[in-house]
Amino acid sequence: MKFVVLYSSIEGQTRKIAEAVASHLQSQQHTVMISDANQIGFADPGVGDAIILCAPVHGGHYPAPFVHFVHDWAQVLNDIPTAFISVSLSIASADVDEQQEARSYPGGISEETGWSPSAILNCAGALKYSEYDYFKKWMLKRIAATEGGPIDTSRDYELTNWTEVKSFIDTFVGSIT
Ligand SMILES: Cc1cc2nc3c(=O)[nH]c(=O)nc-3n(C[C@H](O)[C@H](O)[C@H](O)COP(=O)(O)O)c2cc1C
Repeated sequence: MKFVVLYSSIEGQTRKIAEAVASHLQSQQHTVMISDANQIGFADPGVGDAIILCAPVHGGHYPAPFVHFVHDWAQVLNDIPTAFISVSLSIASADVDEQQEARSYPGGISEETGWSPSAILNCAGALKYSEYDYFKKWMLKRIAATEGGPIDTSRDYELTNWTEVKSFIDTFVGSIT
């Protein structure tokens, strides 16, 4: 099958997840085209048999250019199988309400754009303290503290469960083949 993997990423973790998804599909002999959803000149996403979109939550929202992209292509996206990987920190929270909030983000983009993904994975991202500026580091440490997450800012934390990501993709592929 031919898959299109589209991502939006601000700090790099969602791009890493999209690349892992592409590698996993390629290892199963599928053809994969991977791209930043907002890369200028990107072709029609409808060229694939199925599409996997990946986007992170920042400040309670997906990146605005990603939302615009989905809005513009909603009709095409609704006509073929699509999977959505929503990347956040709160999905890894010890607090059930925070987890619930993370699960609500995909519904928000559906409401805003009219796109209904066939499958959704709420996936934990990363805390890259070493790459944040002073303000971001302070903000993320505060968020992590309220969620029972890691607050030692002298190192980075990758919270993504790679087994879960691969298993989600396997289930999605299985549902359309
Ligand atoms: C400035 C900033 C704001 C964030 N806001 C949220 C948020 O509101 N909710 C949440 O669950 N995660 C939040 N996160 C965590 C990100 O979703 C997580 O770090 C993810 O891995 C970022 O993906 P990216 O590296 O592809 O940009 C935030 C991260 C940063 C750096």
